[in-house]
Amino acid sequence: MIDPADRLREALRARGLEWTAPIEHHVRLGSTSDRLKEMAREGAPPWAAVLADEQTGGRGRQGRAWASPPGGLYLSVLLRPRFASLSLVPLAAGVAVVEALREHGVTAELKWPNDVVAAGRKLAGILAEAASSSSGLEWVMLGLGVNLVTPEEAFPEALRAATTSVLALTGGRLEPVRAAAAVLTRLTVWYHALHADSPSVLRAWRAHAVPWWGRRVELRSGGAVVRGIAEGVDASGALLLLLEDGSRKAVLSGEVTTVRLETSGGR
Ligand code: BTN
Repeated sequence: MIDPADRLREALRARGLEWTAPIEHHVRLGSTSDRLKEMAREGAPPWAAVLADEQTGGRGRQGRAWASPPGGLYLSVLLRPRFASLSLVPLAAGVAVVEALREHGVTAELKWPNDVVAAGRKLAGILAEAASSSSGLEWVMLGLGVNLVTPEEAFPEALRAATTSVLALTGGRLEPVRAAAAVLTRLTVWYHALHADSPSVLRAWRAHAVPWWGRRVELRSGGAVVRGIAEGVDASGALLLLLEDGSRKAVLSGEVTTVRLETSGGR
């Protein structure tokens, strides 16, 4: 059987991309991002990638676990950006995932900053992590998880109604290596756009964003909760909130949910 890392390299070549950076494939791994972190510390070049069939310790945003049974896409990729628009890297990754899914017949949207949702349910997630040293930024790592086939029952009960998969949405199976090739191809496009024309990344992000501008939202970041009206995203990718006291706040990280207006009494 051909090694999935070689198949991925071949699939990328078929798309016109000669992938010279290392690609590691693991049948079972704690976390692709943890493995790639080790490789980054050992000096791995930009675009080094780790792919796993299954993760036993998949990590999500805000310290949550990421359910990673076989059949899903679990991919981490290393970047060593040398440009100013760093805060837009996670948004560019979200655009790349949405476009890759669209190639396979899935219409998905981005919930700020880069939750990938379809029919209001979570389909994919991106964990962006970075490390710096005294000489500046060392690396940015994107951990990408796409729920390709996982049935609802595999998720913790509290998450079931909030989760979906490519299989549930399309009735078709998307093989992880094909999904990885599509995601990496679109990621190279949007990553290079960050150098050349960063406003184009924001325009693409806005075009794919869940259209909840003008709605009341709740933002959770660490232990803090902020409520306000979502007004948009600024040039740095920060979410702009109009707070209840009329002031404005730009937030760079957190988890956003929409809030229903409470009606007092009556029906
Ligand atoms: C989120 O919470 O929305 C982000 C989930 C990110 C999951 C991916 S799967 C590949 C990589 N390895 C991990 O441990 N996490 C990321």
